[in-house]
Amino acid sequence: MRTPTHILLGQTLSFSGDPFLTPLEDAVRFERRGAVVIGDGKVLAVGPAEEISQPVDAKVTDYGDGLIMAGFVDAHLHYPQTGIIASWGKRLIDWLNSYTFPEEARLADPAYAREIAERYFDLAMANGTTTSLSYATIHPSSVDAYFTEAQSRGLRALAGKTCMDRNAPDNLRDTAQSAYDDSKALLEKWHDIDRLGYVITPRFSPTSTSEQLSALGALWVENPECLMQTHISEQHEEIAWVSELFPDARDYLDTYETHGLLGERAVFGHAIHLTEREQSRIKEVGAGLVHCPTSNTFIGSGIFETARMKAEGQRVGLATDTGGGSSFSMLRTMAAAYELSQLKGQPLHPAQLMWLATCGSADVLHLSDKIGNLAVGMEADLVVLDLSSTPAIAQRSQRAEDIWEAVFPTIMMGDDRATKAVWVGGSLAR
Ligand code: GUN
Ligand code: ZN
Repeated sequence: MRTPTHILLGQTLSFSGDPFLTPLEDAVRFERRGAVVIGDGKVLAVGPAEEISQPVDAKVTDYGDGLIMAGFVDAHLHYPQTGIIASWGKRLIDWLNSYTFPEEARLADPAYAREIAERYFDLAMANGTTTSLSYATIHPSSVDAYFTEAQSRGLRALAGKTCMDRNAPDNLRDTAQSAYDDSKALLEKWHDIDRLGYVITPRFSPTSTSEQLSALGALWVENPECLMQTHISEQHEEIAWVSELFPDARDYLDTYETHGLLGERAVFGHAIHLTEREQSRIKEVGAGLVHCPTSNTFIGSGIFETARMKAEGQRVGLATDTGGGSSFSMLRTMAAAYELSQLKGQPLHPAQLMWLATCGSADVLHLSDKIGNLAVGMEADLVVLDLSSTPAIAQRSQRAEDIWEAVFPTIMMGDDRATKAVWVGGSLAR
């Protein structure tokens, strides 16, 4: 059955180019009074309201000054860590051992996993996030909980079973064989069903033996259409640990590459302290890097150099890294990316921040033809932002002389109160 046609009126923001590489006037399409026509789950037309022909039977929603744009794409997060977000005071490995692993063990209970998945998607959607790429736990039922919840909401969502066969508690370890078998079964069950995508997920080299990394590399060879996600070079202690665990590896990236876990569809979280060799190899292969700025400050990991990475031609997306990150909001995440770049003397333009949170993340996920932009033929996953959502934001945006002065206070100070509406697959979701 075709869904009814809707027309949304408001300010509209789309990208016709990458604002890191293209002058702003060529990269951005903004309409002060725009219209978006959606039908059958897709964007059918977008442009100035007076130029867009409006089907007579369409339902019209006028968002006034609301900014209609693509829903946010969160390219790296751990939905099982929803309940322990903002846990005080540790560095990565201590944080994993004291907060993360005990909580992830609780998701052995499928009912608890369902509760957390529901809570996670409530929070993400309240913040305008319409696609999430998550790690689950080692338990296959935690993957089922995530995909079942996403499917019932009609979301485009990606995730995989987190694989760990060493350096993790007994109740959070699988084996090389069971990681392969369980991942394969989950992939066959969920990949490409509705708008869901299975992602092969070794947590990171310290928690996988060579045998497990090879088994997952083999699974990827058998299923090259899938993404593979993992962590790389987040903290110096972690990198030193990897070189102890893999004494023959040239560097951290090599621990993945030698096991068949490097390719264009690889998605590497953090990637803060890469060597020259790692950077040039990742670029050569075309793999994606995901910047997790609230996490990188919260766990004290370091500064990902967004502008330099983009200038060097890396694929870069943006993510909350829930719950190492300290917010479910991609607005707050953009603010943190801005602040960290400022520390490197490279102020990111609001258009670049918005691009990272939508097009950039979609590109890392190889989904640029489906999500991450407000353009004809794209899936109608949209957020409508209130650019005056609090008194502090409103008094600043009222003085704005252009759209970017109007948007930037919401990037820097906005939260879920800025989410006026969310559309998922062409239907109003909240
Ligand atoms: N490295 C390995 N696992 C994790 C995790 O759960 N969170 C973060 N931030 N880094 C990791
Ligand atoms: Zn992570």
